[in-house]
Amino acid sequence: MASRMIRSRLSLSRLYAMAGSKNGRFLSTESNKVDEPLKVEEAETVEVPPPPSEKLLVLGGNGFVGSHICREALNRGLAVASLSRSGRSSLSDSWAENVTWHQGNLLSSDSWKEALNGVTSVISCVGGFGSNSYMYKINGTANINAIRAASEKGVKRFVYISAADFGLANYLLKGYYEGKRAAETELLTKFPYGGVILRPGFIYGTRRVGSAKIPLGIVGSPLELVLQHAKPLNRLPLVGPLLTPPVSVSSVAKVAVRAATDPVFPPGIVDVYGIQRFSQQMSR
Ligand SMILES: NC(=O)c1ccc[n+]([C@@H]2O[C@H](COP(=O)([O-])OP(=O)(O)OC[C@H]3O[C@@H](n4cnc5c(N)ncnc54)[C@H](OP(=O)(O)O)[C@@H]3O)[C@@H](O)[C@H]2O)c1
Repeated sequence: MASRMIRSRLSLSRLYAMAGSKNGRFLSTESNKVDEPLKVEEAETVEVPPPPSEKLLVLGGNGFVGSHICREALNRGLAVASLSRSGRSSLSDSWAENVTWHQGNLLSSDSWKEALNGVTSVISCVGGFGSNSYMYKINGTANINAIRAASEKGVKRFVYISAADFGLANYLLKGYYEGKRAAETELLTKFPYGGVILRPGFIYGTRRVGSAKIPLGIVGSPLELVLQHAKPLNRLPLVGPLLTPPVSVSSVAKVAVRAATDPVFPPGIVDVYGIQRFSQQMSR
């Protein structure tokens, strides 16, 4: 269903480009005559309208997942901004020069809301661990604040990086999961048509800790290969959720940016298998 919608959009966008050409030559029967081939000069003057201006705000764009999302969005030609408590933090990569870095705490006063001015879509990577009450605040309250503010400012699409259920871990990390689910409920209420929730399990890729780079893919990548074929086992009580396949940070980033910018990306929850499927479709 989703892929059909995406394909029909592609053909529509091609039509728009054709209809938008200055003199409509693409649709002209004149240019289809066999004895009147299209001249090169004419083809060079056809102008395709530029894409509508999209501005993406990544909440937590200096973190592990957020920094990959910023890079993916820049590669796709979007204007990208980030908001986090430490601002740009220690990121020294050259792509970081092209991001507008805002400093702000989603749990404190309203000043951070200025970062939402002119923003068309938001991706939130804000989350973390600690005591149960801290986990509820950072995964739940902080994101709920962001979702409400984005809705008030007329943001069109909002993507939230949530997390897959992990059986017993849900009980041990109660605040984490209760916070995640509370933010999800708020998102589906405030963004019924433009809200997308990604629920990855373990995310692997290169994570920066200070100046060191830790290649989590050494474990994550082979595990993903094995566990993506164990989907039926995922339904076993207690141990099942532990067999949720890990997913690469680049897949999460690709799908998140697509979900934030593609008006026909289906709203709602995308589980690990959905993230893998969308990401594979986009790589073809
Ligand atoms: N990594 C995984 O394997 C995994 C798996 C499943 C789900 N997830 C989810 O994916 C999301 C991103 O994970 P991650 O591993 O990239 O985490 P991370 O590296 O710790 O990034 C969290 C980001 O949130 C920002 N942040 C935290 N509190 C904030 C606040 N009050 N206001 C503004 N910004 C705040 C942090 O920046 P500052 O510290 O500068 O504020 C940081 O940029 C999280 O929601 C996590 O639960 C991760």
